[in-house]
Order: sequence, then C-alpha cells, then structure tokens
Amino acid sequence: MYNKTFLQLDNYLTSLQVYWQFEAFHYSDYPWAETNIALSEFLDALSDLQLQHYQQYPDLLYAHIKGFINQLRPFDDALFMIKALPALESDAPFWLKAGIKGRKWSQISAFAQQVNSPYPIVEWCAGKGHLGRLICWQKQLAVTSVEWQQTLCDLGTAEAKKMQLPQTFQQTDVLTGEADNYINPACHAVALHACGDLHLHLIKQAKKNKPAQLSISPCCYHLTTQTIYQPCSLLGQTSALKINKQLLKLAVSKQVVSGKRQSDLSQQEVLWRLAFDELQKHALKTKNYCPLPSFPKALLSGQFETFVLWAMENKSLTFVVPNSLDIFLQQAKKRLKKVRCMELISQFFVRPLELWLVYDRALALQDSGYQVNIASFCDEQVTPRNLLIQAQLIAKIEGNNDD
Ligand SMILES: C[S@@+](CC[C@H](N)C(=O)[O-])C[C@H]1O[C@@H](n2cnc3c(N)ncnc32)[C@H](O)[C@@H]1O
Repeated sequence: MYNKTFLQLDNYLTSLQVYWQFEAFHYSDYPWAETNIALSEFLDALSDLQLQHYQQYPDLLYAHIKGFINQLRPFDDALFMIKALPALESDAPFWLKAGIKGRKWSQISAFAQQVNSPYPIVEWCAGKGHLGRLICWQKQLAVTSVEWQQTLCDLGTAEAKKMQLPQTFQQTDVLTGEADNYINPACHAVALHACGDLHLHLIKQAKKNKPAQLSISPCCYHLTTQTIYQPCSLLGQTSALKINKQLLKLAVSKQVVSGKRQSDLSQQEVLWRLAFDELQKHALKTKNYCPLPSFPKALLSGQFETFVLWAMENKSLTFVVPNSLDIFLQQAKKRLKKVRCMELISQFFVRPLELWLVYDRALALQDSGYQVNIASFCDEQVTPRNLLIQAQLIAKIEGNNDD
C-alpha cells in the first residue's frame, strides 16, 4: 500500500543527497560548493539578520531557493503529508491524570484513543506505564508493561495497585530477547516512543511471534547499534541510500524554540567547538574534524583559553597554544555561518527522511502479513514524534519465520 510513496521518497532523498547527507561541522565549505555555485553565492550573501529570519521561518526560504534546486519540494508538499487521526477527548477521571505532566498526558490520551482491540495489551518500554494504565482503565484490558528500569516498574506497580487496575510490570531488557515471549498472537503490542533499536526489535519480533495488532510511535532513530542503517523492509533493502547514525539524527533534528540564555550559550558552545577545531587543524596540520564530547556548561562562562586546555586534555592532544586565539575565533565565526546555512538547506529533508524511516518500518510489518496504517495521532506541538504505525495481522506468510 505504501510502496509507491516510499519509492517516491527514496528517489527524492537519493537524487538530492548532496543537500542533506553531510555533517555540517565536518565541512569548511558547502558540500555543493562546486556543483551549485549559484546556491552557494545566494547563501553567502545572506546577512546575519536574514539568516536568523529564515532559521525562524524556514518555509519562507523555499521561494528563494527553488530556482537553485530544481527538484526541491516545499515543506507542505503532498508527498510529505500524513493524515491526522481524529482527536478525541479523553474522559479520564482526575485521579488517573495525577502526576502526569500536561503534554505527556495529551500524548498518552491521544495515543490511547487509537488503541482499539479486544486483546490484552503488552506495553513495550513502558517507563512508569502511564499509557498502559490509561488503556487498562479506559478499555478494560489487562496490560503487561515491559520496562528495563526497576524503579519505574516499582512506581508503575504501586500506581496500578492503588487504582486497582490489572496492570503488571515486568522488569526486562527487551534487547536481550527476554521479553519476546510476551509478544504472541493473542496480544496487542503498543510502543510509545520506544527509542531506535527498542521499537525495531519489536517489529522484528512481530515477524516471528505475530501479535494480532501493533501500535508503534517511533522515536530516536539514531539510538541503534547499527553503524549504517539497515532497512527493515524488503523494499527498503533495495534502496541505494547509506545513512549513518549521525545522519539518522537529522530525522529528529527539527529546531525547538529555547530560552534566550540557552540559545546564547549553545551559539557560544558551537562557536568554541569550531574555533578549537580550527586551532587543532592549524597546530596539528590536519584536515580532520575533531569532535568534542559534551562538557559542563560552566566552562562556557570562563575564557576560551581554559576551554582549549580542557579540550586538549580531553582529546589527549599536545601542541603549543598560540598567545592569541582571536584568529581561530574569527575563522569559527565564518564557518559557523556556513554551518547554519547548510542547516537551512538540510532542514528541507528532515521530514522526508523521518517519513522514509517510518514507511520502512510500516513496509516491514506489511512484509510480515500486516495491514498497516500510518497517521499522526496528535498535534506536532504536543510532540514532534507524533507518527503512529497501526498494524493488524491479516495473513500468515508461509516460510517467513526466519530472521
Ligand atoms: C522514551 S522512554 C518512553 C517511555 C514511555 N513509553 C512513554 O512514552 O512515556 C523509553 C523507555 O524505554 C526504557 N528502556 C530503555 N532501554 C530499554 C531496554 N533495553 N529494555 C526495556 N526498556 C528499555 C527506558 O527506561 C524508558 O523508560
């Protein structure tokens, strides 16, 4: 059912790879610097104010750059549209909502409204099991909540007990396969924001254990042990795209509005990281980017020199630090502008990439004999990871029980 859309997305992402398949920090110039000079010149000519404006309103940029990238589709192109499930009001009593923050409650109540089945529920990577508890109460279904952290299992168990609901917790690391047996043909597996490999394991397990229904809202595609993304559907496996872990982050990279102090700090952090990179390239006569791990933000309130010494120690680098580091900060400023311009362009591919990943998951379930539906289950403001894959087993596919 989704084959055609997946192929269209795949062609789109493949043919325009140069505009999104890069890690901006590793580049001192645009990856398309030589192949699309007009676009490069347009971006270089943007003032800081214009840059900020387009960062805030990226859709306004489309009209200016579509002439430079012929096949570029706008953010609201029909190919990227997903139907929204009707938002139904939850009639849950106040005591069931206690201790669940506003947006979390909106997420779980919207998700729970879409769970329609007669089967007992297995809640995959449940956290405190808020979703499971609501489904349990609302649909009067027994719920087994599988969660790795014992403390969350204990908290969830206490709540269920207090509310006298048939929800039980199983403390298990799903990646070891210990939870596989909970997935069986007489269950409905639900997974709200089980990261990367956690929901992939469930999809893989569905092929073997054939739960009657699945409802999965994927997130954090980059939290995986795969160095290069291995598509899970047969059609996905025919794709020429090679997407590494860093690039998977692009799929969840939509800018979130942060407070002024936080954005000032992160701007400075990026600048210092780039300035250190310029310095180490100069001192060590290398062209290789030097990534730094995360560090205490207090370092940003000190001097750049102190940051340099910390970075050298952290990366076990030895070189003589020049007396003046201004030149590296200047170079970093120029490079940061290029990085931001690269991000302006790659933002156009965030949604297509996430959809490509979600369609791949949906197609894998289709390969396993499921009828699949993809829709958004709540508003993007409630959670940007608002896509829901609903799958219902319709056929037993013979000889398809292997890995
Ligand atoms: C992003 S949270 C989602 C929790 C819950 N479904 C929700 O939406 O509120 C992911 C949960 O997966 C759990 N988790 C992480 N690794 C796991 C593993 N290997 N096995 C089982 N649960 C795991 C975490 O402890 C965390 O509670």
